Amino acid sequence: MSIVFLNGVFLAQEDALVSVMDRGFTFGDGIYEIIPFFSGEPLRFSQHISRLNDSLSAIQINSPYTEAEWKDIITEVINRNPVTTNLSLYIQITRGVGEREHIYDNDLKPTVFVMCKPIIDRDFSAGVSVITHEDIRWQYCHIKAISLLAGILLKKLASEKDGSFEAILIRGGIVTEGVASNVFVIKDKVVKTPAKDGSVLAGITRDLLLELMYKSGLECMETTVTEKALKKADEIWITSSTMGVVPVVKLDGEIVGNGKPGKVWEQANSLYETFK
Ligand code: PDD
Repeated sequence: MSIVFLNGVFLAQEDALVSVMDRGFTFGDGIYEIIPFFSGEPLRFSQHISRLNDSLSAIQINSPYTEAEWKDIITEVINRNPVTTNLSLYIQITRGVGEREHIYDNDLKPTVFVMCKPIIDRDFSAGVSVITHEDIRWQYCHIKAISLLAGILLKKLASEKDGSFEAILIRGGIVTEGVASNVFVIKDKVVKTPAKDGSVLAGITRDLLLELMYKSGLECMETTVTEKALKKADEIWITSSTMGVVPVVKLDGEIVGNGKPGKVWEQANSLYETFK
């Protein structure tokens, strides 16, 4: 039985019910956040809460809790779900219950939902295959919106192409990010990742990895990455909170570099794993 938090109450997941008139259900009108816990400890908790607040403010919902209050709620959810594995903690906030009218009342009470689930321990050390696809999502990708239809279709498409793990998205010849990850492209030992404009999510793993690489003297840049550069890369990595730093060894069926996780990945991944 898993215990979740819904609108101020801790209860069994099967008893946690939301109205069909919740705007999250009718419009996908809400945002979410995922915080990883490794050996019981959150990784970059404050940064995740700060991104949650950014998403909320971008869609004009007042933040329902302070960082300290979030910490208490999350700790309680985790304590009530005793597991020994690493965890991903999911927070979802929708605009709340209201008529199905596009224009919303400012005084709706947001629906707040928190759950946790184990992070499946997958061994990515041999690398993964990915496809590329035109970025068909909306243009406010800095908001961690729950409306993920484009991403869902793209991930399914990727999985149906030789079981590819992720789709790397391209907008007008420029790499944005993966469906659920940020992208790093390495050429001649220089690491490049797209800058944080509205076309990518400000990945917490991305930022942490950049910080660690800058400190360790690895050459890295936040800059435009073209589709051409992606296709000529020596190494490609994708990052996210639940999977870490994952090397890509096949892109659209073509081998990346020598078909094995590269030397720069080994360094970067070890920086991340040591920090985590
Ligand atoms: N996704 N870009 C997108 C579009 C994402 O959905 C994610 C994470 C990332 C990586 O961000 P972070 O390093 O903060 O996890 C980048 C989560 C894991 C998901 O939706 O399942």
